[in-house]
Amino acid sequence: MSLLLDEIAIATARLAEAGVESPRTDAELIAARLHGVSRGELHLVPDAGFDPRFWDEVARREAREPLQHITGVAYFRYLELAVGSGVFVPRQETEVMTCWAIDRLAAMDVAEPVVADLGTGSGAIALSIAQEVPRAVVHAVEADPLARQWAERNIASVATASPHTAGRVILHAGDFASVLQEFDGQLDLVVSNPPYIPVGAWVPPEVGEYDPATALWGGTDGLDAVRVVEATARRLLRPGGLLAVEHGAQQGAAVYWVFAEENGWRDTRNNADLAGRDRFVTTARAWGAPGMAG
Ligand SMILES: C[S@@+](CC[C@H](N)C(=O)[O-])C[C@H]1O[C@@H](n2cnc3c(N)ncnc32)[C@H](O)[C@@H]1O
Repeated sequence: MSLLLDEIAIATARLAEAGVESPRTDAELIAARLHGVSRGELHLVPDAGFDPRFWDEVARREAREPLQHITGVAYFRYLELAVGSGVFVPRQETEVMTCWAIDRLAAMDVAEPVVADLGTGSGAIALSIAQEVPRAVVHAVEADPLARQWAERNIASVATASPHTAGRVILHAGDFASVLQEFDGQLDLVVSNPPYIPVGAWVPPEVGEYDPATALWGGTDGLDAVRVVEATARRLLRPGGLLAVEHGAQQGAAVYWVFAEENGWRDTRNNADLAGRDRFVTTARAWGAPGMAG
């Protein structure tokens, strides 16, 4: 055993004691980032190279600060995004919805599909679409100025790493209830991971104390923002345009009915995340829906 592996074993026990869900993984990821190696190379770090700041960072994780705030990065599909105080940490469950949007856009018979990401946070969904659907243009909407700073930073760094994304994610400041009116009836796809936690619901400290409140709480039943997304998407989408909206694992049935046929939606479906839990609703703007030509 090396000194670093010994320290990781002690850190793992401390993190487990503090109630951290994946204590070994977190201890290893903290150590790997700090020592500039991959997780598989931790045993190669010489004893003399052990960085004592490891224990400062373990203490932060022990206090239930999110791992991604400590390392400063969140991995999302093919992206490495900068995250920290003031922005929602993108979650793995959102990757499946993003994949759905990417697959639909890639298959769309449209030269340059135009998309809106309502509540972009770090820019995770918008940037993945721009990176993986090179013809798409994504309007990323965010009301929170702090979150927008993180999105700006990620848009710039992804444009450096993947120059084909440059200029194809356009950040808009404002409330998604009212922005993008110049695109009414024109968008090909709207995607959103809105705040959807019912007020008063229990959340772990990593979420309640570190994710911004504007990213979390969705009113009494959690669906306040989902209803706004519905009205906004109804305004923005062209006939046949597609929508995907994320929700909590217990909200599938309720969100399904937000996208009812009488509101001009068709093919509304519930979709699961990788753990098999209800996670997002997809639907399409009906042809000849109320307020639409054709
Ligand atoms: C759950 S986070 C999702 C962030 C990112 N799309 C993701 O999946 O990681 C919701 C985001 O929507 C933003 N937001 C909430 N209500 C909004 C509104 N009415 N208008 C614009 N943005 C809003 C929040 O500030 C937050 O960044």
